[in-house]
Amino acid sequence: MEQEAKFGEQEPEVNLDRRKMMVGTGVLTAGLLLTKAGGLLGTAQAKSQMANWPWPYVKLDPDETAELAYNEWYRVYCGAGVFSSIFTQLQEKVGEPYTLVPPETFIFLEGGLTGWGTACGSHVGAALVTNMIIGPRTTGSHDGPMMGSEIMQWYADAALPTYTPKDPRYKGKMITTVSDSPLCHVSVGRWMKASGHSLGSEERRDRCARVTASVAHQTVTLLNQWHDGQYQTKGRLPSASYGITAQHNCTSCHGSDVPSPPMAAKK
Ligand code: HEC
Repeated sequence: MEQEAKFGEQEPEVNLDRRKMMVGTGVLTAGLLLTKAGGLLGTAQAKSQMANWPWPYVKLDPDETAELAYNEWYRVYCGAGVFSSIFTQLQEKVGEPYTLVPPETFIFLEGGLTGWGTACGSHVGAALVTNMIIGPRTTGSHDGPMMGSEIMQWYADAALPTYTPKDPRYKGKMITTVSDSPLCHVSVGRWMKASGHSLGSEERRDRCARVTASVAHQTVTLLNQWHDGQYQTKGRLPSASYGITAQHNCTSCHGSDVPSPPMAAKK
């Protein structure tokens, strides 16, 4: 049977000579950096370093990060693009533990998780970054997960893409849309409806590359505030107020008839 078309079926084949590809995109792999840094860590040592939060962070330039993310989309797509744009810089500036995680691991976030159109990979990539750097809530700080939550809300509210690359591949006018949702399906769908461009089009592809850049820009902006001790989260836990795990935009799926969950625990 013919395989069904995958999300991003017209993406370039990732079969370039690996070294050439890395040089071309300015991306260094963990392997190379580890060699540069003088060898691999022992497993136990690496593990304890990774679980030692917060990870060392140096402030990054949001525009530079956005440019990296834009170009990385064309290699590893949205989730890994955001992740890579931040991690490759910190691999160079800080080293371990950033060198221990290959950004390519997160290519599966493309198309809202291997093409299923669930959460847009770009803000999932951002949440991975904030949770790895700041740490999970078991550290006593909620800033890591709540910064991820804040970025998801920002994503839903923003006229995306917010970032225009210095030398965009698509030279035409890029329209923006508000998804009012963290879902890839809704975000891409609304943009396709408004623009009339298909999933495989050059325009849609460049739109998602720019969304990836926009989210990377926003993530570094917040991480820099956090680094300076200026970060006060706007992130919220929707489940705490609705009595059900949910996105805020109840009516976009339920219409005017939003059901109420049972609020009292059953004995
Ligand atoms: C992305 C679409 C979507 C959004 C957004 C959404 N829901 Fe739902 N919700 C669904 C679907 C689909 C079901 C399953 C409905 C069914 O089985 O009949 C469901 C089920 C429910 C249920 C349990 C089934 C029922 O009828 O009681 C409750 C309660 C509920 N939603 C409340 C909410 C609330 C409150 C919000 C906003 C805070 C919300 N939903 C946002 C799609 C959504």
